[in-house]
Amino acid sequence: MNLPKIHSISKKICVALLGGFLLIFILLHASANMLVLRHDDGAWYSAFCHFMGTNYIVKVFEIILLGFIALHICFTAWLWITNRLARPVRYHQPGRSKTHPGSKLMMWTGILIFAFLVMHFCQFYFVKLGWVKGEYMVKVEKLQDEEMMQMMQMANQMNITPEELINQIESSASEYTDANGDAAETDEYIAGLRDKLSVMTLVQHAYEEGNFSEDRQWIRHLTYDDRQMLRRVMPESDPEPDFYFMVRQLFHNPVMVLLYLITFVALFLHMRHALPSAFQTLGLSNYKYGKAIDILGQIYAWVVCLMFVAVPILVYLGL
Ligand code: HEM
Repeated sequence: MNLPKIHSISKKICVALLGGFLLIFILLHASANMLVLRHDDGAWYSAFCHFMGTNYIVKVFEIILLGFIALHICFTAWLWITNRLARPVRYHQPGRSKTHPGSKLMMWTGILIFAFLVMHFCQFYFVKLGWVKGEYMVKVEKLQDEEMMQMMQMANQMNITPEELINQIESSASEYTDANGDAAETDEYIAGLRDKLSVMTLVQHAYEEGNFSEDRQWIRHLTYDDRQMLRRVMPESDPEPDFYFMVRQLFHNPVMVLLYLITFVALFLHMRHALPSAFQTLGLSNYKYGKAIDILGQIYAWVVCLMFVAVPILVYLGL
């Protein structure tokens, strides 16, 4: 196989730098997840996700992050292939290689984490991108619309439903256009009113079902179709995924709890080796500090993984 020739140490440095960035991300991600454990009906976690979903700097960071994950995987696979090509004849006796056992595990734990990420993205990230259906929420204040309010008031005064009001407007408008005007324009106007009616029905339904956040700032439990309708009728309302609810829902399922816990074990093994190994590759580890860096790697891996583990277990136990 003809792979481009880049010195093995250069590839290792790239893997170490990319891995270092991912180690920082993973600590931030685990810390943010702690907000799911607050019993505030998602007020803090939703505010955090809202910030993550709307801030442009975060969006750029997200693209860089996904790029780094892809590069980290590509460089590792490339390194693994070139290493194997460099030794086409395997050791006769297994265990003769001087490679650290943790480093041999890296490939397998890495594959497991990659498989997890595919599932994880389908559960959350792709919902945000609109590629997979989820549960959504929208800020109540964003649904306030002048024309809609007037329509509701008028229907109230006439003691009829908004739908009946639109039907009346439609019939008198068609009589008027038959005599004078442009039918297409009237149809467009009526269609606009009907769209507003769909939004009103959605709000009314939310009131009836009590589908609100505790602070009543958000309407929750919107379906994918609701979200599509709102995006079309009121693009500025910008409904977003209800990640707090989705995370809590997910961890009521014991299979999911187990799958996540298995991943955290793999992640722990991967990270425990990653930090000291990155330091060594970058030439920042020596006899004097080697042991300390090793311990630091272990502590880092324990802290991050325990934070991750806490969420599915405590949510599953209803705590
Ligand atoms: C208890 C465990 C976890 C929970 C509850 C969780 C939850 C979430 C949620 C809700 C999102 C979407 C956030 C958004 O896009 O605004 C997300 C995104 C993401 N998660 Fe996790 N996650 C967990 C564990 C992990 C682990 C172990 C990894 C890595 C191995 C990981 C990697 C990612 C990545 C790369 C993204 C996309 C980037 C981003 O949106 O920040 N997650 N996660």
